[in-house]
Amino acid sequence: MVRGPPKLYVDDECNFVDPQVLENVLTTKFDTFAELDVCELRKARSRANAFETIRNGIFMNRAAMKMANIDAITDFMFTSLDYDSVHKRDGPYYFADVCAGPGGFTEYILWRKNWCYKGFGFTLRGEHDFKLQESTCVSSDSFHPFYGPNGDGNIYNLENIQHFKRIILEHTQGVGVHFVMSDGGFSVEGNENLQEVLSKQIYTCQCLMALEILRPHGYFVTKMFDLFTSFSVGLIYLMHLCFNAIAIVKPNTSRPANSERYFICKDFKNTHQSSEIRRYLEFVVQDMWHAQPEDSDNDILELIPLDILLRDTRFSKYMHDSNTSIAERQIIGLQKLKFFCHNPELVEVHQETCRLKCLNLWRIPDRKRAAIQNVTASDIASSISQPAFMLTQPKEISVTTFDSVIDEMNDWRFVPLCSSKPSNFCHIFVGMSNSKVSKLVGNKWVKVKNMHLNRGTVLYGEIVKEKCISMRDGIETEKLSLHVIDALRLGDVSLADLSFEERAKSISIFCEAINFEVDGDVRIRPKEARCLQDLYTKNIIEYKQETREYNAVGAKNSNEYYSVNAILFLKVNSHQSFNSTYVLRSVVNINEHDTTHVSCKLIDVIKKVRSLNKK
Ligand SMILES: C[S@@+](CC[C@H](N)C(=O)[O-])C[C@H]1O[C@@H](n2cnc3c(N)ncnc32)[C@H](O)[C@@H]1O
Repeated sequence: MVRGPPKLYVDDECNFVDPQVLENVLTTKFDTFAELDVCELRKARSRANAFETIRNGIFMNRAAMKMANIDAITDFMFTSLDYDSVHKRDGPYYFADVCAGPGGFTEYILWRKNWCYKGFGFTLRGEHDFKLQESTCVSSDSFHPFYGPNGDGNIYNLENIQHFKRIILEHTQGVGVHFVMSDGGFSVEGNENLQEVLSKQIYTCQCLMALEILRPHGYFVTKMFDLFTSFSVGLIYLMHLCFNAIAIVKPNTSRPANSERYFICKDFKNTHQSSEIRRYLEFVVQDMWHAQPEDSDNDILELIPLDILLRDTRFSKYMHDSNTSIAERQIIGLQKLKFFCHNPELVEVHQETCRLKCLNLWRIPDRKRAAIQNVTASDIASSISQPAFMLTQPKEISVTTFDSVIDEMNDWRFVPLCSSKPSNFCHIFVGMSNSKVSKLVGNKWVKVKNMHLNRGTVLYGEIVKEKCISMRDGIETEKLSLHVIDALRLGDVSLADLSFEERAKSISIFCEAINFEVDGDVRIRPKEARCLQDLYTKNIIEYKQETREYNAVGAKNSNEYYSVNAILFLKVNSHQSFNSTYVLRSVVNINEHDTTHVSCKLIDVIKKVRSLNKK
């Protein structure tokens, strides 16, 4: 590492760019911005840039379209993890969107992948915070923002990075996210030629964030500007050691006259060297965070000795060629801008062709952003064919009537219910505008607080009070969870034509995607439907002598449980759509305190199931 007084010029940084091109780009940039009025420049840009009219399309901002562009030029590597032999799993796939308000990148990803992807956000609080609730093309329930222990969302602070890492590891079974996107930037108006120097802290923090939270083989894309200085090239070098492939690209959606480009890294190597580099960058980030103005001779100027960078000829040639070609295109972009400023009659005639071609290549519909629509529970109900089936109550059965309903053992599954005859917590739940939720009580829709479901969702579930024993101090607390039993629609995805097994698989991905263990919110889990043999071969429902209560283990671990008062039987053979499973559902009450004639002891139900098995 080389330290010294902060370097506030870049015109001698020609180790990784053609010197003549460097001089040209710096002078053209300086002249353009010093000479021309910002407003005139903006007007000229709208006519000069061949890709300007692509704009935001169906999305909230141009950044979303930029991510669509980046995804397309990388052969949709960010949105086809489900086709990738290394990453393929049942889902959800995890991503992080960092320095990312208002959230256009995430909007693009969720528009393509819906709740099959789960995102974690981190950005500065304030004016540029996330505003995904304003999206008109996605429900963002599988995305959650975090802002660090002191709530500011500043990536410069290592404590914030580490806190975000802990959250991500907690939510991803300790493995990390499949990809990280970061797009940090701030205004450098009047200091355009110093953008690189002013951005070194944000470059470093974003790179460190990726190394902290990526899983092996993960991907990373981050915004950068000029990369002329030894500091920036050293950072790229360190990152290239941690991945199997890197590229620096300037997508068409990135305006030709600016220095912006994207650094893309593929296939994260989880090696000892990557860990060492991560530790080194932690030190650098900490150093930058604590730097005081009076330490003015102590700025970090180089992360890696220059001779190491130059000795790696393949790497240094790549940097040289990338910098030179992007700067050459930028010079043309700037000159064109000046020309269009001086000639208000000029128009770029290829704008419409470029727009249509790009949308086609990026697989984005040629539509404008829709207006926000208010969707109520009744709107959703009326979009379901023959919605009256939702009013059907479960058939109550007892030991004596059991055989007449549960005829073929393999056709049925069971789930434990907390609901009892007097207290029913099972309902149809729907997700409305802004992910607000209503449940069907009798024939009325009643709003549910502190719960979020993707707009369009229609599911059958039970709100359960789960008792959670803290692993740390053994203290028991209660948390509300929505146990999803079955679903007709999850967001925009219809499960109407799927078998029960397929619906259960989607429910499990959906629940994992939208469940963020955030205080105050109702958690969401799949209620696992089990085959009837499990009633007597596994300890699914346990009897507690002291309280005369039945308990079932909560979905998370054995430190969570809930009391069981009934067993719901679901007919699930291949002919059962959501509607028919729902209409045929049957319940046995096993509450010991309930003395009604329909209440049975669990042991009697088990005997009944055993006898069915012997038939
Ligand atoms: C160009 S915008 C990102 C646009 C975003 N990708 C999108 O798709 O909407 C740059 C973002 O970087 C954020 N940012 C700048 N400095 C930051 C910092 N120190 N820590 C966290 N975020 C920062 C800004 O607040 C802003 O939200």
